[in-house]
Amino acid sequence: MTEDFKEPIPSLQVAQGSVAWQTPSNIALVKYWGKRDPQLPENPSISFTLKNCHTNTKVDFVKRTITDGEFSFDIIFEGEKKEAFKPKIQKFFERIQEYVPFVSEYHFTITSDNSFPHSSGIASSASGMSALSMCLMSIEKQLNPEISETYFYRKASFLARLGSGSACRSVKGNLVVWGAHPEIAESSDLYGVPFSEEIAPIFENYQDTILLVDKGEKQVSSTVGHQLMHGHPYAASRFSQAVENISKIKTFLKSGAIKEFIALVESEALTLHAMMMTSQPYFILMKPNTLEIINKIWAYRAENDSNICFTLDAGANVHLLYPENEKEKVHSFIETELSIHCQNNHFIHDELGYGAKEMK
Ligand code: DP6
Repeated sequence: MTEDFKEPIPSLQVAQGSVAWQTPSNIALVKYWGKRDPQLPENPSISFTLKNCHTNTKVDFVKRTITDGEFSFDIIFEGEKKEAFKPKIQKFFERIQEYVPFVSEYHFTITSDNSFPHSSGIASSASGMSALSMCLMSIEKQLNPEISETYFYRKASFLARLGSGSACRSVKGNLVVWGAHPEIAESSDLYGVPFSEEIAPIFENYQDTILLVDKGEKQVSSTVGHQLMHGHPYAASRFSQAVENISKIKTFLKSGAIKEFIALVESEALTLHAMMMTSQPYFILMKPNTLEIINKIWAYRAENDSNICFTLDAGANVHLLYPENEKEKVHSFIETELSIHCQNNHFIHDELGYGAKEMK
């Protein structure tokens, strides 16, 4: 329950300090698309946690002398002071203040950078918001050392969700479920939980190469995108389909049913885009090169009896997913066939990761 995260925090006095975390991006297999206030998903989703695409965030904090209830912070992003990021953080602090009241009691210097290039079209909200949330939880832990590890990570995910929905899946675990689902133990709309079932060996060390088709700003912000699901003619069936797909993918992940996994993951990606094409207003977020890549993936899979597949986020970039045992062959396929469809031939090799890491 939301109330669980409102425990009175400050039992100790801490004048100042510094905390730092590295948290990854994630890629959804069953997509979150549609939300209601306050940042609650209309359907459950599941994602692979990434490893190489991550954000490093350090928060230096010092007790303020004035207690006016306002927020005081500076943001340094990739070495430069970033005024443009302030409204987003201000809004985040407003949303989380009732759960972490100390946010108005300190001045924060937030120093952050991403491992992936700034204009790559890779959303940094998941890794950015989760990194900041981990830092805030480290501060809470200094104020109240009694909190349990479960509470620490759950609340970090809860806070991250209030910053950006998908960010709650970037805290802990290699596969993370967000959204209440009858067959996923402890699942909740309030935070992400690590997928606790055993997964078949084929899915261990799964690979994800992000093919950067379009590095520009997103054509449709996710906030606008989620809103398009309100009053969408297919919304209700889409939300129940996602519930069914979580049940299905759970069994595929356990049994190693990779062909079924591929069919489900690709269908989820295309359904996400179909929702955007059939909303009012409507959007096409794929580019010609997105389709070129998809067609080449399908041809390669058929010709080589391969298990590569794709997924998409709300943009033109393609995530190419494949088991580790195909790594070498797929890398040469990417270099010879796919990179020509990427902006400046740019792609990023990534793989399954395990979540947030504290930086000392
Ligand atoms: C298409 O988490 O970026 O990537 O909650 O408004 O911050 P906000 O949205 P965001 O939406 C991500 C949508 C998606 C699918 C997914 O990650 O599940």
